[in-house]
Amino acid sequence: MSSVQTIEVHTAPTYEVTIGVGLLRECGARLKTVLGGCRIAVAADSNVAPLYLETVCASLRDAGFAVCSYVFPAGEAHKNFTTLSAILEFLAESQLTRTDCVAALGGGVTGDMAGFAAASYLRGIRYVQLPTTLLSTVDSSVGGKTAIDLAAGKNLAGAFLQPAAVLCDTDCLRSLPAAVFADGAAEAIKTGVLSGETLFSLFEDGTLTDAPAEIIARCIRYKAGVVERDEKEQGERRKLNLGHTVGHAIEKCSGYAIPHGHAVAAGLAVMARASERLGWAEPGVSARIAACLEKNGLPTGTDYPAEALAKAALADKKRSGDSITIVVPKAIGDCELKRIPVTELLPIIAAGLGG
Ligand SMILES: NC(=O)c1ccc[n+]([C@@H]2O[C@H](COP(=O)([O-])OP(=O)(O)OC[C@H]3O[C@@H](n4cnc5c(N)ncnc54)[C@H](O)[C@@H]3O)[C@@H](O)[C@H]2O)c1
Ligand SMILES: [Zn+2]
Repeated sequence: MSSVQTIEVHTAPTYEVTIGVGLLRECGARLKTVLGGCRIAVAADSNVAPLYLETVCASLRDAGFAVCSYVFPAGEAHKNFTTLSAILEFLAESQLTRTDCVAALGGGVTGDMAGFAAASYLRGIRYVQLPTTLLSTVDSSVGGKTAIDLAAGKNLAGAFLQPAAVLCDTDCLRSLPAAVFADGAAEAIKTGVLSGETLFSLFEDGTLTDAPAEIIARCIRYKAGVVERDEKEQGERRKLNLGHTVGHAIEKCSGYAIPHGHAVAAGLAVMARASERLGWAEPGVSARIAACLEKNGLPTGTDYPAEALAKAALADKKRSGDSITIVVPKAIGDCELKRIPVTELLPIIAAGLGG
C-alpha cells in the first residue's frame, strides 16, 4: 500500500483507525496529536514484545511520552483473570493516573485484555490499539469490546470501551505464521458473508494475501458502520457473531487449543450448512463459503459431536433464559438473527455437521 488510509468511527467519542505501512515507527508522533502528553503503559505478549515493543517504546519516548511496558505470556489460555490482575497491578505500580493511557500492542488477546484493564483501572482510562495480527486488524481492534475468558466460557467478563485511536501497521502481518494469518482470514470472510458480494467476491476471485489493504479497509468500514448504529450490541451488532455460537463452543471443547479464527471458520461453515439443509438459506451459499475458507487453509467442520457443542454453546452469554439467538446466513449479504428455544440448538448443529 502506498498511502495511509483513515477511517473515522463515529461512536462516543469518535476515533480514527489509520491503516498503512510503518505506522509503529511513527506511532509516537501520531498518538501525540490524539492523546497530548501523558504516561503510556504498553502491553504486549511474549511473542510480540521481541518483535515490536522496542520500536513502539522508542517512538513514544521520542514524541515525549513517559513510557512503561508490561509483557505477559502469549496465548488465549492467558486471556484470564490472572493476567488481567497482573496488568492492573502493573498500572498501579507504574502510577498511571486518570489522564494516562494503555497501548495494546498485539493480537486480539492483547487488545481484549489490555482494553479491559484500561476500562476497569480507576474506573476507566484511555487506551489505544496497535493491532499486529490480521484478526485484530480487521475485527477486534475496532468496536470497543474488551473481555477475558472465564472457566465457564469465552469473553464472559468484559466491558465496552472505545479506543482513543487505532493504528494498523500492515508491515506487522509479514511476521505472522500462516495459521495465525488464516485466523484473520476467517473473520474477514465472515465479514464478507455479512456485508455482501462486493467484499465476498474478493475472497472468491483472489487470495487474501493479494489485497490485504483493500480487504482490511473494507472490513473495518463495514464493522465501523455496524458499531456506529449499535454500539452496545442491542440488535444489529449481534450479527457480527455469525459463526461464533458454534465457534466459541469448539474453542471451549478444545480447551482453547483451537485458535479463535479456526474455530469461527468451522462454526461459520457448520451454520451455513445447517441453514441450507433446514431450508433457510439459498442453495449454494454453504459451498461458496466453504470454498473460501478452504482456500485460506481453514477448517469447514469439527470432530466434536453435536451434543458436546450444544452443551458448550448453551453456557455462552448469548443465551437468555430458555432461548438463544443465532445468526443464520441466508445469502451472501443477507444474514438474519433468529431467536430459538435452547432445545432447538442441538438439532440445528447436528444438521450442520458432517459432509
Ligand atoms: N473484541 C472483539 O471485538 C473481538 C473480535 C474478534 C476476536 N476477538 C478475540 O481476539 C482473540 C484472537 O485474536 P488473535 O487471533 O489476534 O490472537 P492472539 O492475540 O493470541 O495472536 C495470535 C498469535 O500470534 C502472535 N502474534 C501476534 N502478532 C504477531 C506478529 N505480528 N508476528 C508474529 N506473531 C504474532 C501472538 O503472540 C499469538 O501467539 C480471541 O480471544 C477472540 O475472542 C475479539
Ligand atoms: Zn471473533
